[in-house]
Amino acid sequence: MNKKLLTWLLAASIAVIFVATGLNAGTKVADTIKMDTNAYTKRTKTPPKFEFVSFTHKKHAEEYKVSCGECHHDKDNKPLTLKAGDAVQKCSECHNVMEKDKANPKDIKALENAMHGNCIECHKKANIKAGDPKGLKGNAPVSCNNCHIPPKS
Ligand code: HEC
Ligand code: HEC
Ligand code: HEC
Ligand code: HEC
Repeated sequence: MNKKLLTWLLAASIAVIFVATGLNAGTKVADTIKMDTNAYTKRTKTPPKFEFVSFTHKKHAEEYKVSCGECHHDKDNKPLTLKAGDAVQKCSECHNVMEKDKANPKDIKALENAMHGNCIECHKKANIKAGDPKGLKGNAPVSCNNCHIPPKS
C-alpha cells in the first residue's frame, strides 16, 4: 500500500469516528424548557396575561427522580424507556388540539389537558406523599397561579 493511500484511509477513518461520536452525543434539550407552544388561539393579547411556564426538565429527571417514561409515551400511550440524550416526539405532535372543545372539555387530545393531566396529577400525589392530605399544598405546584404567573413589569 502506498503512503498517500494510507494517509487518506487514516483521515477517512478518523472522520468516521467523529461523525459517529457526534451522533451519539444525542438530542440536546434545555435544562429548563419554556413551554411556549404558541399555536394557542387565546394567546394573541399583547402584553400577554401570563408568562410562559418554566418547566425544570433536568431537575425533574435528576433531582425529583421522575423517570422519562412517566411523561414520555408512544402512540399507544405506552411509557417509553429512554435515557438522557434520546430523542422524543413533542407532546403536541399527538395532543394537537389547541382549543378545548366545549362539548368534550376533558378531551385528552387537547394539549392543555395532556399537560395538566401529566403535571398536576403527579404534583398532587407528590404533595400527599410529602404530608398534605389533599395534595394541594407543597413544593409541587397545583394551583393555577403557581404555574401561570403574570409577567413581571
Ligand atoms: C416530568 C416530565 C418529564 C420527564 C421526567 C422527562 N421529560 Fe422530556 N420533556 C417533557 C416535556 C413536557 C417536554 C416538552 C415537550 C414539548 O414541548 O412538547 C419534554 C421535552 C423533551 C425533549 C425535547 C423534545 C423536543 O423536540 O423539543 C427531549 C429530547 C426529552 N424531553 C427527553 C427526555 C428524556 C431522555 C428523559 C429522561 C432522562 C425525559 N425527557 C424526562 C417532560 C418530561
Ligand atoms: C406519539 C403520540 C403521543 C405523544 C408524543 C404524547 N402522547 Fe400523551 N397520549 C397519547 C395517546 C394515544 C394517549 C391515550 C389517549 C386515550 O386514552 O384516548 C395519551 C394519553 C395521555 C394522557 C392521559 C393519561 C394517561 O396516561 O392515560 C396524558 C396526561 C398525556 N398523554 C400526556 C402527554 C404528555 C405530557 C406528553 C409529552 C411529554 C405526551 N402525552 C406525548 C399519545 C401521545
Ligand atoms: C411524575 C411526577 C411529576 C410530573 C409528571 C411533573 N412534576 Fe413537576 N414536580 C414534581 C415534584 C416531586 C416536584 C417537587 C420537588 C420538590 O420537592 O421540591 C415538582 C416541582 C415542580 C415545580 C416547582 C419546582 C421547580 O422545579 O420549578 C414546577 C414549576 C413544576 N414541578 C412544573 C411541572 C410541569 C410544568 C410539569 C408538566 C409538564 C411537571 N412539573 C410534571 C413531580 C412531577
Ligand atoms: C403544574 C403547572 C400547571 C398548573 C398548576 C396549571 N397549569 Fe395550565 N398549563 C401548564 C402547562 C405546562 C401548559 C402548556 C403550555 C404550553 O404548552 O404552551 C398549560 C396550558 C394552559 C392553558 C392553555 C395555554 C394558554 O396559555 O392559554 C390554559 C388556558 C391553562 N393552562 C389554564 C390553567 C388553569 C385555569 C389552571 C388551574 C385550574 C392551570 N392552568 C394550572 C401548566 C400548569
